[in-house]
Amino acid sequence: MDFSLSPEHDLVREMAYKFGQTQILPGLAERDREAKSDRASLEKMAEAGVLGVSIPAKYGGQDTDYISLGIVCEELERADTSARVVMSVHSGLHCLTLMQWGTEEQKQRWLPDLAKGTKVGAFGLTEPNAGSDAVNIRTRALKDGDSYVLNGEKTWISLSDFADQFLVVAVTDPDAPQKAKGMSAFIVDRNAPGFHSKAIHGKLGVRAGNTGQIFFEDLRVPADCRIGAEGDGFKVAMSALDHGRYTVAAGAVGIITACLDACVKYSHERTVGGEPIGKKQLVQQMIANMVAGREIGRLLYYKVGWMKNVGLRHTRECGLAKWQNCNAAFQAAHDAVEIHGAYGYCDEFPVERYFRNSRGAMIYEGTREIHTLMQAEYELGYRSDRPLDRMLPTWPFEA
Ligand code: CAA
Repeated sequence: MDFSLSPEHDLVREMAYKFGQTQILPGLAERDREAKSDRASLEKMAEAGVLGVSIPAKYGGQDTDYISLGIVCEELERADTSARVVMSVHSGLHCLTLMQWGTEEQKQRWLPDLAKGTKVGAFGLTEPNAGSDAVNIRTRALKDGDSYVLNGEKTWISLSDFADQFLVVAVTDPDAPQKAKGMSAFIVDRNAPGFHSKAIHGKLGVRAGNTGQIFFEDLRVPADCRIGAEGDGFKVAMSALDHGRYTVAAGAVGIITACLDACVKYSHERTVGGEPIGKKQLVQQMIANMVAGREIGRLLYYKVGWMKNVGLRHTRECGLAKWQNCNAAFQAAHDAVEIHGAYGYCDEFPVERYFRNSRGAMIYEGTREIHTLMQAEYELGYRSDRPLDRMLPTWPFEA
């Protein structure tokens, strides 16, 4: 067993760390306070090549392995959750799913622009009445000649107003004996007539990020924009979540690291009874727990990144990593507020933002409860991961 990261991983970490600290952090407190998201951060990410991480060079990507994608997510979320969310939807849910399920022609059609960041991708599964029970979505795709006509709406869609294209799951056969077999997945272009989006306001966290609803009104999608076979939509969505959850798990470690950055500094500076609060054992206990969260969290997500590299199914492992790391990040952010006392309760310090941002990840991409049930079901033998017929390309990628 080899636990070492490569010099390339170190370079990726350094690049992503610098990018987050110099391109995402400046002005963030104001953007977050004013709930102001703009497309400019996407353009900066594209310029830095971040949006092409873990996409093969033959499609214009950075050709880095999947562990690198996790490291980028970790370092971006150390700066702000909104930047990591871009990676989750663009790289994880959209690009990696295209790499897994797209035909060669579809990959060549879409991946080069996505890798450069001249196009940004997002994901549409959740609907107002179907969140955890994704199998009950209602968006309908009706076959009509050589295209499908989509009607319906999706909600809680990250980058709803900024993404150029969406991987959307819709019902193609409402009479299928198993609902999961009556769905198909499509790439929907935001410029298609019948598309519109609307931002959601008043979020508890990730306020500098764009989230909203997308609507399809008699929106026509050419049949060659269907990803996978008709009826494969639920599997496409679930494998997309294998990639999205991985990026969320890695990003959660970044929140813990950010909490440690803030708490170690504050614990040296703030004194009580003539000594720094870092000397107080109850503060030390909270810092020690954060260190444990960071180290365990890395082991969990590195393992999933490695499983992606070598082509092993990893639904169970990535669910575990997402669930545990998000819990640990929320606990770390809670304790970071505690360590900062009243200062932690206002936005003069960043920890209140970590507290709000870390809460969302316990809901999106599978709630804490769904992940708890899934892990128990695996252990009890009620759920198992069979090998898939469509796998993510292994790394190193083919030339
Ligand atoms: N990859 C490929 N195929 C998969 C798969 C995977 N990871 N997981 C399941 N499948 C396949 C199964 O093999 C099965 O097919 P077969 O019958 O041919 O074997 C089929 O899909 C159905 O699978 P299950 O029986 O496991 O499905 P289920 O109904 O038991 O799933 C559930 C229940 C696990 C709760 C699932 O509905 C789920 O994960 N719900 C949570 C949804 C979720 O996370 N939503 C978040 C949306 S994204 C978001 O948050 C917004 C954003 O933009 C950030």
